[in-house]
Amino acid sequence: MTRHTHKIALVTGASRGIGAAVAERLARDGFTVVVNYSGNAAPAGALARRIEEQGGRAITARADVGDPQAVRGLFDAAETAFGGVDVLVNNAGIMTLSPIAETDDAAFDRQVAVNLKGTFNTLREAARRLRDGGRIINVSSSVVGLLQPGYGVYAATKAAVEAMTGVLARELRGRAITVNAIAPGPTATDLFLNGKSPELIARLSNLAPLERLGQPEDIAAGVAFLAGPDGAWINGQTLRANGGIV
Ligand SMILES: NC(=O)c1ccc[n+]([C@@H]2O[C@H](COP(=O)([O-])OP(=O)(O)OC[C@H]3O[C@@H](n4cnc5c(N)ncnc54)[C@H](OP(=O)(O)O)[C@@H]3O)[C@@H](O)[C@H]2O)c1
Repeated sequence: MTRHTHKIALVTGASRGIGAAVAERLARDGFTVVVNYSGNAAPAGALARRIEEQGGRAITARADVGDPQAVRGLFDAAETAFGGVDVLVNNAGIMTLSPIAETDDAAFDRQVAVNLKGTFNTLREAARRLRDGGRIINVSSSVVGLLQPGYGVYAATKAAVEAMTGVLARELRGRAITVNAIAPGPTATDLFLNGKSPELIARLSNLAPLERLGQPEDIAAGVAFLAGPDGAWINGQTLRANGGIV
């Protein structure tokens, strides 16, 4: 826990699931962590306390990433507490599954607002405010490669995130900031597990040649690589972390 003690990492959607595992892992690697959440203050607070108990530094910050003003406030909170932001992990996301023919406008708008506009909001802020030498990691999804029925709108938001990843990597030329995406496959969190039968979960768990579901810690390890010294030469890429399903 001595590697990057002066660096500040902001993780969106860090109250639960993959984001919580990322926050915990980055804290263990020595980053000071800003734990963003939108609704669930209690688990976000518990996570920040756990990080502090283990000798790290963390604060929580509420913001709906879909709201540009709230995102500005999120960066303000990080700067006020710690003086700046070095690493942004754009993890907050939602998923509603339905065939395109049956998808209503509200489901489309909600997913675009959080997954796409939310990522745009934080990327724009980071492009203006991230310290030189920083890292940006966007969380996409392996559905961009799998293209399963029912994932149309969700996959489209993530494909857009991957496109912005490559564009921003080029726009930040000269500032030594890398911009990458990580694209998890099925991972054991509320987002994946809720609403699925045990049979469907078993079938999806077996898609990977490694024959298991991803765990949030598996994804956090990939993010830690991209955020840490060993990831320095990776830029403008999407790393699929899915046990080999696509
Ligand atoms: N799980 C998978 O199989 C899988 C696969 C591929 C990609 N992903 C991607 O991985 C990321 C994390 O997913 P997960 O599985 O960990 O989901 P999750 O368990 O449902 O957790 C979602 C997190 O995002 C936060 N969040 C939701 N809407 C937000 C908003 N508008 N503003 C700020 N935070 C918001 C939630 O905060 P609250 O607790 O406050 O609601 C929560 O911390 C998402 O981008 C998802 O698309 C997941």
